[in-house]
Amino acid sequence: MKGGVVVLLGLVVVGAVVIGARAARPPVVPAMFVLGASTLDVGNNNHLPGKDVPRADHPFYGIDFPGGARATGRFSNGYNIADFIARQLGFERSPVAYLELKSRNCLIPNALKGGVSYASAGAGILDSTNAGKNIPLSKQVRYFASTMAEMETAWGRYNVSKLLASSFFLLSIGNNDLLQSTPKTHADVVALYTTLFSNYSTAITHLYGMGARKFGIINTGPVGCFPRVRLLNATGACHDGLNRLSAGLAAVFKTGLAAALTPTRLPGLTYSLSDSFASSRANFEIPEATGFLNIDNACCGSGRLGAEGDCNTNAMLCSDRNAYAFWDYAHPSQRAAELGAQALFDDGPAQITTPISFKQLAYQK
Ligand SMILES: *[C@@H]1O[C@H](CO)[C@@H](O)[C@H](O)[C@H]1NC(C)=O
Ligand SMILES: *[C@@H]1O[C@H](CO)[C@@H](O)[C@H](O)[C@H]1NC(C)=O
Ligand SMILES: *[C@@H]1O[C@H](CO)[C@@H](O)[C@H](O)[C@H]1NC(C)=O
Repeated sequence: MKGGVVVLLGLVVVGAVVIGARAARPPVVPAMFVLGASTLDVGNNNHLPGKDVPRADHPFYGIDFPGGARATGRFSNGYNIADFIARQLGFERSPVAYLELKSRNCLIPNALKGGVSYASAGAGILDSTNAGKNIPLSKQVRYFASTMAEMETAWGRYNVSKLLASSFFLLSIGNNDLLQSTPKTHADVVALYTTLFSNYSTAITHLYGMGARKFGIINTGPVGCFPRVRLLNATGACHDGLNRLSAGLAAVFKTGLAAALTPTRLPGLTYSLSDSFASSRANFEIPEATGFLNIDNACCGSGRLGAEGDCNTNAMLCSDRNAYAFWDYAHPSQRAAELGAQALFDDGPAQITTPISFKQLAYQK
């Protein structure tokens, strides 16, 4: 991917995205449980203490939130990827944030009705990633364990195990671990991959042990092309080294999970793993299909690439938010999230998912 603003003439600019009410069909799965980082966070970080916690609790975040502008904690101008995956499954939007449900004392009815989100911006597979400023994966899994125990008390073990076995577990984490790491030698890289894979597969195995069976996993992607990373280069080019590091990890996850998540080792488990490099290419390389006029700059931000300053009410806002792939310094716009989620379900020649699509996973008995 080249740096610089992509200007394409003769393109019909796509109008405002209208997100209608959810179709009147029951969801494909009884519930959805979400674990991951900022692309999936729907408000957990709003409940974490500390001024250094990344939070999207202020405008212009949520400026296009369906039903009325509202900064909910999503790092998007509207819905995020979790919301669009939830919609593909037949829900109205992502399940509510765990800490939000706890604070309102309504965890269990919600968990039984549609699931829970544990995702936290800044979180990593490793506890050390942005430590103290997020809910790391291991703690998200513990929060799920405690949710499950409460669900069983309310609804019985049998009912809960049936619910969990057909629920959709959405996972997307790892990019923050890469952004934080600075492996110097080949041996460092191998050690990093080994730790990350080991802890990721441990988390998945723990979830399986508690009854999770369907895993939709979004692999690590081209973090070297985040506007804030491209700032590091005077030309604004993607950071090739970081992209290579991420592609290497994605490959380790792909082969590692295929070997670890087998029917003999974990009977009944099914998964779909997405290739975030392929889905980004699909988003970025055919702008005619996506309507993106700008895949380099943040829509909301300031300074070079719109990525030097944070997205807040002092920021510059682009004029057509659906024409930008990036909403802020590192997160997709609502439109990019929508296209991304769609591609995971309706996988075509781009072969974004393996071994099955998110849709096949959702419908699998
Ligand atoms: C890896 O996972 C183990 C077991 O869940 C956990 O105790 C450990 O803290 C994790 N390691 C790191 C570096 O996060
Ligand atoms: C399990 O679910 C059934 C059907 O919804 C319900 O009638 C039953 O009371 C539940 N069991 C427990 C222990 O709550
Ligand atoms: C900046 O990007 C250019 C083009 O990809 C590359 O040749 C150069 O090495 C980069 N500079 C640094 C400091 O990474």
